Amino acid sequence: MGPQDANLTGSVHGGVVMKLCDEAASLAAIRHARERVVTAACDRMTFLVPVFIGELVTLSARVNAVWHSSMEVGVRVEAENPLTGERRHTNTAYLTIVAVDEHGRPIAVPPLVIGDEEGSRREREAQIRRSNRLAERERIKSEQDAVQSPLDTQPAKD
Ligand SMILES: CC(C)(COP(=O)(O)OP(=O)(O)OC[C@H]1O[C@@H](n2cnc3c(N)ncnc32)[C@H](O)[C@@H]1OP(=O)(O)O)[C@@H](O)C(=O)NCCC(=O)NCCS
Repeated sequence: MGPQDANLTGSVHGGVVMKLCDEAASLAAIRHARERVVTAACDRMTFLVPVFIGELVTLSARVNAVWHSSMEVGVRVEAENPLTGERRHTNTAYLTIVAVDEHGRPIAVPPLVIGDEEGSRREREAQIRRSNRLAERERIKSEQDAVQSPLDTQPAKD
């Protein structure tokens, strides 16, 4: 990470790390689907400890779960001080990436082949995050439907 990535205190901007996570997640999704992809959502982005100027940042991205056209990709970010070799886990991100055709329309992606307990655990946790996200969306929608706008109660004017 260079000075252009950081603020005046020498910490790398969160947005810079988010962009790297987006790129890593998209590449992992492309390698799984072998299709073009778009980012639908950044479901979670955790900043555990800062990344500093001069550190080497490594991102590991993995497809955790696949639905129809969407995939959850988890990204782990580590920063290493190249002088000392000290390495820290700095960020975790979960993004929803959707495979699309040349017109930007969602298309089906191949199922995920999971071969170990670690993979099964990641998929279960991704299902929980998706269920929570969909439940939250439904709950907010019904709250919004329940609150009738004052404009809706006015009689129509010619
Ligand atoms: C993501 C996008 C393709 C979805 O298109 P859409 O017409 O809404 O399609 P659908 O409603 O059929 O949803 C397609 C899939 O995306 C998922 N999806 C759509 N919006 C989502 C959101 N906000 N969060 C998570 N998943 C989402 C759906 O759950 C569905 O998944 P599934 O096929 O696995 O069941 C479209 O909204 C889009 O192009 N967004 C802009 C993407 C972009 O510009 N990203 C930044 C640059 S890469």
